Amino acid sequence: MQKIEVKIPSCPKNSYTIAVGDEFLPAVLGQIKKLLPGKELFLITDANIAKTKHLKKLTGLCNLYRYVITPAGEKSKNINTVTKIVEQMEKKALGRDCAVIALGGGTVGDIAGFVAAIYKRGVPVVQIPTTTVAQADSAIGGKTGVDSSISKNAFGVFKNPTAVYIDVSTLKTLDDKQFNAGLVESIKHALIADKDYFDYLQKNLSGILARKSQPLEYIAVKNCRIKASVVENDPYEKNKRRILNYGHTIGHTVESASNYKLLHGQAVAIGIIAANIIEQKLGLGGEERLASLKKLFGRLDISLKVPKSITKRQILDIISRDKKAVQKWPRFVLLEKTGKVLCKNGQFALQVERKIVEETIDILLNRNL
Ligand code: GLY
Repeated sequence: MQKIEVKIPSCPKNSYTIAVGDEFLPAVLGQIKKLLPGKELFLITDANIAKTKHLKKLTGLCNLYRYVITPAGEKSKNINTVTKIVEQMEKKALGRDCAVIALGGGTVGDIAGFVAAIYKRGVPVVQIPTTTVAQADSAIGGKTGVDSSISKNAFGVFKNPTAVYIDVSTLKTLDDKQFNAGLVESIKHALIADKDYFDYLQKNLSGILARKSQPLEYIAVKNCRIKASVVENDPYEKNKRRILNYGHTIGHTVESASNYKLLHGQAVAIGIIAANIIEQKLGLGGEERLASLKKLFGRLDISLKVPKSITKRQILDIISRDKKAVQKWPRFVLLEKTGKVLCKNGQFALQVERKIVEETIDILLNRNL
């Protein structure tokens, strides 16, 4: 098992360890009990995970208090689910001496982290991500929250986990569509921080898609190291952490315009292509990279076609509400080259002329990418 420390220099007590390995779920509950002695544990998972062996492997003979989010998926990521969970915890008379365990994908982790942040003004949360998107991204760094009927993660708070346990064997039960879409966050990490990692992903994609333990552990560790190095320096996204949103400005927009019919990773793939088109329009180059990305997304069977129901007006409306918008116009993270984000005057999220963004949206809506 490998361990990655996430140090938060501005608040050392919020530092935590990510453990990465294969087939170690049965040992995790014991480790959590050692880490959080005397805490009553409340497990949050979802209907998909409840059907797998992962839940049984984690809990063993222990009958933990639990809440199963139904249906699984982004449609349940709303404030009603949070209310139901909080009330369930109250019914069990859980006090501030409890801790939440999140076992599942991004939706479970985001909801559970948010519940932990607000329950009785805050209790610890342990993240056990079981999907490619959660292991690469959402379980690390402390972003938690739920969607409003208007936009993604409209309710949210930073809540660092007490620990993260990444068992790559949990990825073996994921359906192909979810598995592949989640790999887009790994591609994003490579694009923003590490060209060699981008080359590795292209060369080793077959082993990853065959879900071989060795490449899965390799990418889990790489993702954690890249993400940790960013969030350590800017835990509350004042500036540099914005690089982790590469491809997410347009990505979140089409995801929410599709009413979450697009998986997060698929939407981010479209957003990454959009960012690459903007980079070319701004004369930053990257023609070869755009071709490699289209090929890579093709190998992942990810369609880059924006659903027909989505209009330009809808995209422009949602984009104006982006969390990083200034005067209702979003900022974009762009690449200087593969593995390096463009930074201007110390800023990593940059203003892009409306005309260029509109032309890029037109290209996406032509749907012949
Ligand atoms: N998913 C982007 C971040 O954690 O900042």
